[in-house]
Amino acid sequence: MRKPFVAGNWKMNTNSQTSVKLVERIASGSVEAASQSVIVAVCPPFVYLQVVAKALSSSNIAVGAQDMYFEPDGAFTGEISASMLKDVGCSYCLCGHSERRHVIGESDELINRKVTAAIGGGLLPILCVGELLEEREASKTNEVVTRHVKEGLAGLSAEKLEAVTIAYEPVWAIGTGLTATPDQAQEVHDFIRKLLGQMYDKKTAEEIRILYGGSVKPNNAAELMSQKDIDGVLVGGASLKADDFLAIIQAAV
Ligand code: PGA
Repeated sequence: MRKPFVAGNWKMNTNSQTSVKLVERIASGSVEAASQSVIVAVCPPFVYLQVVAKALSSSNIAVGAQDMYFEPDGAFTGEISASMLKDVGCSYCLCGHSERRHVIGESDELINRKVTAAIGGGLLPILCVGELLEEREASKTNEVVTRHVKEGLAGLSAEKLEAVTIAYEPVWAIGTGLTATPDQAQEVHDFIRKLLGQMYDKKTAEEIRILYGGSVKPNNAAELMSQKDIDGVLVGGASLKADDFLAIIQAAV
């Protein structure tokens, strides 16, 4: 039985005050999440991780980073390691978000190093995969998702995979107000699960959580999560509004 997982990706938003206010409101409102039926995480910008983790210390809400670097320490100006993230209270880390792939230019190989280093450093990586609009229109969705999954998880054993969550986020649905229909999303989630079954084994594929992301809102979250292979959601814009994020958590219960 896969426990539903709702994660908020704040991207480059909030400040030291609004970040804390936001999680205080989420923590005080998420009664059901506190009852352990849903895993909830928020991913603030690096600089607010510590204050947010402190504000959430007596709640069940986990903290995640939006990115990390694969080296443990050293001369890597501007980068942040898994152990630093652990040190400030993170348990999760997004890897390969489409904005990192397409705005910053991260490759599958780099993302694989990050996923591997996240697990090695005791973090739980959330590997984001998904196609561009032109790739969907050229019927290349499965091909792109296969590459992201296979290359992102390269070298990881089935045992290591227990730490991993996958987030399917069609790039054309991110921040655009366009959402994949529940059927469209389910089709890709089913495809990813079967792919994991081929790469690993049926049990591993059945146990891994696959989230959907891309314009998830209170009014579409329940229907998306009612699909057989959609185990939760990765929420951008709506995770910045406490009421919307709480309604999405409620939809996962
Ligand atoms: P969105 O972002 O919910 O604002 O579309 C999702 C994401 O990028 O993770």
